[in-house]
Amino acid sequence: MTGTLYGIGVGPGDPELMTLKAARLVAGCPVVAYPQLGDTPSFARSIASAYIPDGRDEIVVKVPLGDPGGTEAAYDAGAKSIAAALSAGKDVAALCEGDPLLYGSFIYLWQRLRDRFDCETIPGVSSILAGPARIGAALAAGSERVCIVPGTLDDDALEAAIGATEAVAILKVGRHLPRLKRLIERRGLLPDAHYIERATLPNEKVLPLADVPPESAPYFSIILIARAGAAR
Ligand SMILES: C[S@@+](CC[C@H](N)C(=O)[O-])C[C@H]1O[C@@H](n2cnc3c(N)ncnc32)[C@H](O)[C@@H]1O
Repeated sequence: MTGTLYGIGVGPGDPELMTLKAARLVAGCPVVAYPQLGDTPSFARSIASAYIPDGRDEIVVKVPLGDPGGTEAAYDAGAKSIAAALSAGKDVAALCEGDPLLYGSFIYLWQRLRDRFDCETIPGVSSILAGPARIGAALAAGSERVCIVPGTLDDDALEAAIGATEAVAILKVGRHLPRLKRLIERRGLLPDAHYIERATLPNEKVLPLADVPPESAPYFSIILIARAGAAR
């Protein structure tokens, strides 16, 4: 019997936003796997840490920053270690911040393992769904539309996306913040735009985008634009 790979959404940061199912599986799986970006301790592990019993086997997928080839190799190595545990009959909880299947690191492990092993995904509260609660505004209501885009897109692709729907969620803001702010201002959408950094964590920042200095932002930041009447 081989083990099952569980892709576990641990939510945006506040451990109380983990689902009961996520907490139960993290506590029960003999092996826990998670990504670590560069040298920074794993965010996903820090969210779930209270549920990981001492002495669990842990597989750290060390993802280098700014090195696409190294990233592929890291997921290959992580998938290999996870496959060894699954082949030995152990269930593996692969932690992923937010929701695993929305820009989640879990996708890259799942793609490598789903043909060979039983896999189950446990949805999590995405950062883009935590955001509206933190700014105190609906993202969309009624027949309004929402567009979700990474801030890494070029200006033309972003302008097309931003122009297409009433509400927009931009992830992966980071060093793109000054460019994104200029683009949003150019379209006259600054009054409807909010900046949310480290949503639901104690060091969270929530600001109108207009008040955010045009400097690089941390990796864990999003911009939400809610411009329709019903959404304010
Ligand atoms: C690789 S994507 C992962 C998205 C995640 N699966 C989700 O559902 O939220 C990483 C991006 O998610 C956003 N993000 C994740 N957690 C966040 C948080 N607590 N606060 C603000 N942004 C966050 C940031 O834009 C970050 O660059």
